[in-house]
Amino acid sequence: MRWLPQSLSIRLFLIVLIGLVFAITLTSHLHHRDRTKMFGEYRAHSAIDHIADTVLLLATLSPSTRVSATAALPDDEWLVQFDTLAGPISGEAALVFSKSLNERLGNTVQVDEAWLCFEDRASCPYSAVVRVRFKEGQALWIGYRSPNQERQPQKREGVGLQGRIAIFIGIMSVVAWLVIRLALRPLRNLAQAVEDFGRDIAHPPMEESGPIEVRRAARAFNAMQKQIRGYMAERMQILTSVTHDLKTPLTRMRLRLEKCSDETPKDRLRADIDAMQSLVEEGLELARSLDTTESMQAVDLDALLQSLCDDAAEAGLDVTYQETTESGIIVMGRPNRMVRVFENIIDNAVKYGHYARVSLEQQGKMALVKIRDGGPGIPDESLKEVLSPFVRLDASRSRDTGGTGLGLAIAVNLLKVQQGSLELRNHPQGGLEVGVQLPITAMPK
Ligand SMILES: Nc1ncnc2c1ncn2[C@@H]1O[C@H](COP(=O)(O)OP(=O)(O)OP(=O)(O)O)[C@@H](O)[C@H]1O
Ligand SMILES: [Mg+2]
Repeated sequence: MRWLPQSLSIRLFLIVLIGLVFAITLTSHLHHRDRTKMFGEYRAHSAIDHIADTVLLLATLSPSTRVSATAALPDDEWLVQFDTLAGPISGEAALVFSKSLNERLGNTVQVDEAWLCFEDRASCPYSAVVRVRFKEGQALWIGYRSPNQERQPQKREGVGLQGRIAIFIGIMSVVAWLVIRLALRPLRNLAQAVEDFGRDIAHPPMEESGPIEVRRAARAFNAMQKQIRGYMAERMQILTSVTHDLKTPLTRMRLRLEKCSDETPKDRLRADIDAMQSLVEEGLELARSLDTTESMQAVDLDALLQSLCDDAAEAGLDVTYQETTESGIIVMGRPNRMVRVFENIIDNAVKYGHYARVSLEQQGKMALVKIRDGGPGIPDESLKEVLSPFVRLDASRSRDTGGTGLGLAIAVNLLKVQQGSLELRNHPQGGLEVGVQLPITAMPK
């Protein structure tokens, strides 16, 4: 469901808030309904009392005086009709009330019908309407409604209630937000620990504290981290031993080869031994590339690139560093590994693209180093593939440039443990452009 907010905290908060508003709306509606009914009943009872008193009084008068006496009753409270009213105004017929009214009035007056209204005044104007018949046979519809002032305090209370509901929802929202933040904190810590571990395999274990569930998760994560580190160390150990042990027979082969008199196979064998040697060395390098034992330190990237390019140029390679205005960009890194990253990329540029043009710029909080060459580039579909170990494209194999296909894989690993990244793209004006990003620590003034 794409319309849902991406953050779990916001999702939970919305669920709690909607539930809260729904519950409060429902309960306040039920409360309001009960209260209206209660007030209605109260009004109906008091109306019946008023009616009973007035009817008893009217019963003592003669039919003609009754008519003039009822004219004195205030219009806004009383409904009086001598038998001409077609039926009740509204409300429900109340047998029980008509019986109890009958009892109160005795045999002087007989109650024909009684209608009561328990709703608010808007639904029916009179709280009680009764049809009585006096001894002489004169019939009278008489209704009563309580005076208007009753409604005023009720209205004020309604507004107060809404205000209180708003305050309640406000307080509960803050509490819900705090609870959600608190409950999700361990999840955030765990995500951070996974991220740190992904970047640096030697990252210290998570702190095993807090509630039982959190401690269990942290313990499980630490155990997994330890296990992975163990596997990696074992793999590295095997690789180191194999490559180390391979060095001796390789040196022996080289020595024996020198004693050989036939020159033609000698050259070929020498090239093979060189290839095996670089495979052994780079394999070892790849295994070591995720190792984070070398400590991080502040590195002046501008100075590092300048000296690297100068060295390459001195060695006769067409490598130039394009001076930037952004000199003095400091990144945190492992200098030897950083040198290795750029050496590998510059080596490729020269090997496959004739020359290397290196530049440095700042992009937000990142330093961006671009290395561009003048070669054919890499087919778009292979741009990602060449970052994997032992991947060499057909063109480079056929040109016999002599490589193991590990240079870029090593660079990617070395950058990963320094919180950097690498991206390849074919420049619109030709040649491959390798972009290396590293987080900036400081910019000296
Ligand atoms: N600048 C470039 N221009 C064209 N192709 C390139 C470029 N850089 C890399 N490649 C392609 O990517 C492949 C992988 O490069 P990578 O550096 O990983 O290995 P390699 O250069 O073949 O061997 P080595 O381990 O000696 O570096 C290369 O074989 C080549 O096909
Ligand atoms: Mg290479």
